[in-house]
Amino acid sequence: MALTLNNNTKDRPLCCTMSSCCSTKDGCSANGQGNGDKIHDEVKEYYGKKVKTQKDLETKACLMMPSKIPSHVKQALSAVHPEVAARYYGCGLVVPECLEGAHVLDLGSGTGHDCFALAKLVGEKGHVTGIDMTDEQLDVAREYVDYHRDKFGYSKPNTDFVKGYIEKLGEAGLEDSTFDIIVSNCVVNLSPDKAAVLREGYRVLKPGGELYFSDIYADRDVPEHIRKDKVMWGECLAGALWWEDLVTLAKEVGFCTPRLVSAGLVNLDDNKPMKDLVGDIKFVSVTYRLFKLPQNTSKEPAQVVYNGSVTGHETNLKFDALHTFQEGDVVEVDAELSAILQESRFADDFTVRPASKKSKADPKLCCSGAKGVPTNPFEGPLDKESSSCGPKGCC
Ligand SMILES: C[S@@+](CC[C@H](N)C(=O)[O-])C[C@H]1O[C@@H](n2cnc3c(N)ncnc32)[C@H](O)[C@@H]1O
Repeated sequence: MALTLNNNTKDRPLCCTMSSCCSTKDGCSANGQGNGDKIHDEVKEYYGKKVKTQKDLETKACLMMPSKIPSHVKQALSAVHPEVAARYYGCGLVVPECLEGAHVLDLGSGTGHDCFALAKLVGEKGHVTGIDMTDEQLDVAREYVDYHRDKFGYSKPNTDFVKGYIEKLGEAGLEDSTFDIIVSNCVVNLSPDKAAVLREGYRVLKPGGELYFSDIYADRDVPEHIRKDKVMWGECLAGALWWEDLVTLAKEVGFCTPRLVSAGLVNLDDNKPMKDLVGDIKFVSVTYRLFKLPQNTSKEPAQVVYNGSVTGHETNLKFDALHTFQEGDVVEVDAELSAILQESRFADDFTVRPASKKSKADPKLCCSGAKGVPTNPFEGPLDKESSSCGPKGCC
């Protein structure tokens, strides 16, 4: 990708934020992969050999959760087998709303913590596929498929685990337009080629589908001396994108503007050497939702009314950091959000009517909306914290 961006500090090729390619003297390699194979091998070693349970992690970057979790989600999380829960290395809650019957893909599913919780929430008619490149992680996940089928009382398992790279979903046999939702928890930062991950995710999502994922971001480009540090990479910090690059990349690939759901600062107080190494760089764990709209969707601002039909969110639906829809309230939304609500799995949960004349004439509503699209995780209240995840669950 020959894209050049204005950084907060300097002009630089975007691929340099996505890989260790800047360790080459001339900047980017042609395909932005840099030494991608080496990174894959080192990450496999980290999550296959070094880290066996949460206790082996050097920081809490991969152990974060929002402070408020809906009770039906807490229940699903607490049903996950303790052996699997002890190997949860996520940085957020990747449980979007409106899951019944959905086909979900989890990128970098590890030992299956999120897959099994989602398996409960999608129900017997839904299905969850996890993909991971590390055999040791997949082995544990597969060992507990039948346990969770029994626990949820399903006649056959509704989870499966596939070996493969998240940058090459096609090689793993995942076809175009097959998933309603993709989730991922603390994995994209580990990839040497974030653009390929987003492109592949976009390809396998159905039109109207959603990528809902938690990951670590930095408030600037992470410098080379940190990117080269294997432990910092394994701990999900060295490969973190500058958050603005995620926004640019997502739009390049074709997604709508990423919508911030929640964010929390990563606290490195427990690890002084790492804290000293990063200096004043701030890292944040963020959950974003990115929608894939059908081709040629027309976008007009609208008035929408939430009808209270999403399980567990009957009185209100928090859609992103700026939009919480109260059941029955009439809300003016911008053109993009109106298209998302009409073209996604939320279509039946909203009544949509034309925007008022006043708001139609409002250029803000036409493009970004009165409230705007929340994207900056360093702005506004931060609401994730280090979780108390462990063998007993995540709540
Ligand atoms: C930090 S762990 C998170 C695991 C899981 N999402 C969870 O929350 O417990 C990262 C996982 O992503 C996998 N992974 C990292 N990079 C990957 C890639 N490029 N392709 C496939 N899997 C990858 C690792 O093998 C590991 O299991």
